[in-house]
Amino acid sequence: MANDVHESLTAVPAESPSSNADPATAGDRPHDPRHHVTLENLHTERRSFPPLASFAAHSNATAFEYKKAEADRLEYWKEAARRLAWKQEFTEILDWSDAPVARWFGDGILNACDNAVDRHVREGRGDRVAFHFVGEPGDTQTLTYADMHERVQRAANGLLSLGVGKGDRVAIYLPQIPEAVVAMLACARIGAIHSVVFGGFSAASLRQRIDDAQARLVITADGGNRRGSHLALKPLVDEALAPSIAHPGFAASVEHVLVVKRTGQPTEWTEGRDLWWHDVVDTQPAEHEPEWVDAEHPLFILYTSGTTGAPKGLWHSTGGYLTGAALTHRIVFDLKPDTDVYWCSADVGWITGHTYIVYGPMINGATQVLYEGTPDTPHQGRWWEIVQEYGVTIFYTAPTAIRTFMKWGEAIPDGFDLSSLRLLGSVGEPINPEAWMWYRRVIGGDRCPIVDTWWQTETGSIMISPLPGVTATKPGSAMTAMPGIAAEVVDDEGRPVRAGDGGYLVITEPWPSMLRGIWGDRARFARTYWNRFDGMYFAGDGAKKDVDGDLWLLGRVDDVMNVSGHRLTTTEIEHALVAHPWVAEAAVVGATDAITGQAVVAFVIVRGDAEGVPEDGEAIADALRAHVRKEIGPLAKPRDILVVSEVPKTRSGKIMRRLLRDVAENREVGDVTTLADSSVMDAIKDGLASGR
Ligand code: PRX
Repeated sequence: MANDVHESLTAVPAESPSSNADPATAGDRPHDPRHHVTLENLHTERRSFPPLASFAAHSNATAFEYKKAEADRLEYWKEAARRLAWKQEFTEILDWSDAPVARWFGDGILNACDNAVDRHVREGRGDRVAFHFVGEPGDTQTLTYADMHERVQRAANGLLSLGVGKGDRVAIYLPQIPEAVVAMLACARIGAIHSVVFGGFSAASLRQRIDDAQARLVITADGGNRRGSHLALKPLVDEALAPSIAHPGFAASVEHVLVVKRTGQPTEWTEGRDLWWHDVVDTQPAEHEPEWVDAEHPLFILYTSGTTGAPKGLWHSTGGYLTGAALTHRIVFDLKPDTDVYWCSADVGWITGHTYIVYGPMINGATQVLYEGTPDTPHQGRWWEIVQEYGVTIFYTAPTAIRTFMKWGEAIPDGFDLSSLRLLGSVGEPINPEAWMWYRRVIGGDRCPIVDTWWQTETGSIMISPLPGVTATKPGSAMTAMPGIAAEVVDDEGRPVRAGDGGYLVITEPWPSMLRGIWGDRARFARTYWNRFDGMYFAGDGAKKDVDGDLWLLGRVDDVMNVSGHRLTTTEIEHALVAHPWVAEAAVVGATDAITGQAVVAFVIVRGDAEGVPEDGEAIADALRAHVRKEIGPLAKPRDILVVSEVPKTRSGKIMRRLLRDVAENREVGDVTTLADSSVMDAIKDGLASGR
């Protein structure tokens, strides 16, 4: 039975083959999600955890929520949107006439920063703590909503003083410090569009993103704290903005670089371009009237891996996005703003940080923990120490972190008082039932509901999740679509599968927080997400509907890998590898990894004419690993690089990644009959066995 689930899946790159500039992938079979979810467990999983009556008695969500949404979806969204603060109330709800670009609440006018900050001050909640900031070295700051109000107004005036205004793009490349939140909100406040680039990306990745968005300003820091040392950020910005050999004609759109002093490390300075944040921002008046924008005004761009290798700048609206963020945060995390302390461990550089640190929780007036560092600095109990110290009640993290904690052993969390916790969340990749059970027992003391939340950068907010207090959960299942969200699992022809079957996850109706497009490329937006199944949003994930109709996410069915919850594509890493003078050809696959979910495994063919190539395969691998790290960032560094003499290809020249995945995962190699030369796999295996 386990094998039936994916037998019907055929090649479906998330971008249709016509748009897919990577012909190498088009003839391959889709990634088979069986390999990184323990389907055997899923099929025998019968455990169910009904909500505790004591939790249900006070939960924000009720079963009525689903009924209301079913009865009238648009009315449901209208009510959700009405909870925001509007400068001018909307009268339209949805305009889908320009599908797939939606307009939600189109004639409404509002400001995101006003909703996240000013409103709380206006309504008498200025003294509530917005953030308990914890720096990795142990420095702390307590920031109330009134403090945030002051800071965002000064920052908004600072940005205006640099000539940045409504509609301009601002790149933010910062560590996880309060200024990152302030910078995002200050952009929103003046109607500028932020594009946050995760601090773990390389100079080349940053350059690509700055260039694509034509950002006028970059906000960065001298550095951040990482595992007890200083991670430099500013030199990477300098490199990103300098013309390079690879991009000799690169004309940076950037006029200024605004630098937050975080570590105090020595910093190179370009006079006229570079400015200290404290000089520009701290000197400004703390009064600023928000720029009131239309609901459809772009709030931000966030780049994510595309199957062509070039990242896609996904952009989100203001009114619809905030509606989804605030509603889902309130009902999925059951936030009681007066008493809860909420902590989302994601970085603000990812969509999870945008929606569930900055916009959703702040609109709902949450008190949050914001932590700069890693979970194991200075010791492996750091996170639990923070939970204990601040009395965290709601905690949201990723399965890869949970599996890491499992590896470190439960004695570590057991050494701290975690009794304040009352709700746990998971996001970013399928959570295996063992990790789910461990999380529930060891961290949640068997009393906290777990919300496994499925969503994407594209969806803007949670699409599939249990509702705490309402849904009986099953370990490993994200359960059901959120109220107001129409999710379905379909077969190759786009027909809903029967209960018990697997297929592709689609969303069949528009929703307020859906992406509005790919920055600067409307056609790519339509063909990437809307072409595979007529009129339906295809997410790129495989899923199964169990006999009860509950949903199990099975991972990507395209060339997207999920490494520690980070999205990477095979193509972008292949491009980086072949840019190295030693490499003639490269094929990358995502292989199952016990901690990171998937790991990058690269097969490379070395050029016969390359000079200075070491004899030893490991030395080649080390050099290429460092190269990928430099080109894309540490998150893309291959776990294994295997030097081979051939890669398997079909007769039409497409790389057969499925076979390489079999090798990478130490499995019996599958069907080789479509290979142009069926001896290739033997050569690869023999070569690997002999060490080269
Ligand atoms: O494959 C799914 C996986 O992460 C992808 C989206 O990645 P990204 O846009 O970076 O956003 C991550 C955080 C929202 C999805 O296509 N994914 C995310 N959450 C889950 C998940 N897979 C299974 N279960 C989840 N809860």
